[in-house]
Amino acid sequence: MLWLFSSCSENSEASLVRKEGVRTGQELYLLNCASCHGERGNLGVAGAKNLQATTLDKIAIEAIIRNGKHGMPAFKGIIRQQTSYDSLVAYVISLRN
Ligand code: HEC
Repeated sequence: MLWLFSSCSENSEASLVRKEGVRTGQELYLLNCASCHGERGNLGVAGAKNLQATTLDKIAIEAIIRNGKHGMPAFKGIIRQQTSYDSLVAYVISLRN
């Protein structure tokens, strides 16, 4: 697991605050989503959509995570806290940058 986070140290000082704010979302993402979407959101395993290119808003992203869609499993039984959804959705949106 460590190597995943050590890559963060390459980021500039200016982005550190933002990265800290989404770290829980990053952890959730790496555990639950990266197997299909990839670390950067663009791996595309099993038809997984490119998260760097998604135009969905926060509400739609949260709904897809909770309920799943086609080849994507529903996470509502796995990820339970609203704060987890908030940070996970923020992390997914941060992949666009
Ligand atoms: C088993 C593979 C798999 C896993 C694990 C997975 N996804 Fe997906 N995801 C998909 C597939 C396949 C789609 C395309 C669904 C469709 O047909 O529209 C998708 C679509 C999405 C979309 C919609 C993108 C768009 O523009 O329509 C979002 C957002 C998303 N996934 C986020 C996540 C997040 C966040 C997680 C982790 C909590 C996750 N996914 C875990 C396979 C996966």
